[in-house]
Amino acid sequence: MTQTTDSFLRSFRTDPTAPRVPAPGTALPFTPSAPRTATTANATGTVRFPEGFLWGAATAAYQVEGAAHEDGREDSVWDVFAKLPGAVLNQEDGEVACDQYHRYPADVALMKDLGIKAYRFSTSWSRVVPGGREVNPAGLAYYDRLVDELLGAGILPWLTLYHWDLPQAIEAESNGWVNRDTAYRFRDYAVTMHEAIGDRVDVWTTLNEPWCAAFLGYTGGQHAPGRQSREDGLAAAHHLSLAHGLAVQALRERAPEANLGITLNFEVEDPLDPDDPADVDAARRLDGGFTRIFADPILRGAYPADVLEDVREYGLEQHIKDGDLEIISTPIDSLGVNYYHGNAVSARPPERSLDGGAPVSRPSSNPFPAGDGAYTHPRGLPVTDQNWEVQPEGLTRLLLRLQQDYTGPRGIALYVTENGSAYDDVPGPDGCVDDQNRLEFIDVHLRAVRDAIDEGADVRGYFGWSLLDNYEWAWGYGKRFGLVRVDYETQERTVKASGRWYGQVARANAVPDRPARPDDDSKAVPQA
Ligand code: FCB
Repeated sequence: MTQTTDSFLRSFRTDPTAPRVPAPGTALPFTPSAPRTATTANATGTVRFPEGFLWGAATAAYQVEGAAHEDGREDSVWDVFAKLPGAVLNQEDGEVACDQYHRYPADVALMKDLGIKAYRFSTSWSRVVPGGREVNPAGLAYYDRLVDELLGAGILPWLTLYHWDLPQAIEAESNGWVNRDTAYRFRDYAVTMHEAIGDRVDVWTTLNEPWCAAFLGYTGGQHAPGRQSREDGLAAAHHLSLAHGLAVQALRERAPEANLGITLNFEVEDPLDPDDPADVDAARRLDGGFTRIFADPILRGAYPADVLEDVREYGLEQHIKDGDLEIISTPIDSLGVNYYHGNAVSARPPERSLDGGAPVSRPSSNPFPAGDGAYTHPRGLPVTDQNWEVQPEGLTRLLLRLQQDYTGPRGIALYVTENGSAYDDVPGPDGCVDDQNRLEFIDVHLRAVRDAIDEGADVRGYFGWSLLDNYEWAWGYGKRFGLVRVDYETQERTVKASGRWYGQVARANAVPDRPARPDDDSKAVPQA
């Protein structure tokens, strides 16, 4: 490793003596903001990023590793869920996925070649502690090898401990995240991981998107373990937040200089008619049940009163024990922000709805415990192949809101840890994919990040979702998000046009000038 590489890798350590600002102990009400309609100075032309801005790519264990029953790994909830009739399109599972378990040296070399500086990956709890109790040294050894490979290539390992793949044994024997004990078992697993590779990994994310794990998993039933109970989803949400806090405490004690954080997913909920109190209330309920139910306990040390009121009948409060909020709001260093799109929300159903969920046959429910009578409306924005609206200005507003209300006052850095798009790629005769739509998607979102930085948001990095086409949960292999195409028959990787372009952006620390297109306006900002 060269000296420069070494100092780059170390620059993500935090100052162990820095005072860490405690959470204020107050939650916030919902304050809607208005969509931005003006094109900003960053909308065209070359846009440079601050020195040291981190350029990464992200994946998750179950989506890419494969080797699902090799070297001692046992079922996670996703291995079991994928087999339920009609749960996943074409009944596809992650048994082989992108086979990164065997192909990681080539994938790391590919990242190095592209110029990607950080790899956000997750470790599989069911590989490391397969039955939920005994540590599996062969499972740990995989991450040991992966981390060494990354460091050898000068790539920062950005480790996430949980991206939804709970060991099935914990689900089956102990009621999964509904059981408080799972939070303590997660802490033990975090310590096990840290004991094995904490000497080489400086950045630790506890959870990825606990909203999905709790509410798609236990209330809506669209994700593993596929339950449909509002009570269970709320219990799971609280225990996931508790697990995060317990892990931060344990990791901080072991490694005061580690960069610790969590990744949450966010949507910007705009009332369809800001002058209609019913629409504002519908947007408030979705914002509460999506963003504030996690952001406020974790970053402000309190549950929002309106959220507690909305879900009063489902028993959330009985799970909140004395001292939990202090644990949950243990200071962190970084907040990971996953953003794909926002919503126009109304109390009236739309004439035509934009359903972004996978068209599977297994019945599911509304994942929002307080979401009855709240509807999202299409806004005429361009959509990706998953019917997700392309709304870059929402990312600017989100980052500014987080900076002002949550992270700024506590000195927490923001990283966009996921952003990307599914498009139906068509490879040319040479296997190459000229995915100008994905390239433009990333381009406009990076410009939106720069807008937020210019207006004061402390955003220090961006991770494209995803490095590779991979297993897209209930969509199976049907949706491709990769910067790199994967041929699932041969496991061959082919860098897409967006991947080459993104690598150049990473190397230049700048988004290059782009030629004006006739439909430019509709891509950059929503129309008033
Ligand atoms: C996020 C997930 C990630 C991927 C993208 C498209 O919610 O964290 O695993 O599925 O969506």
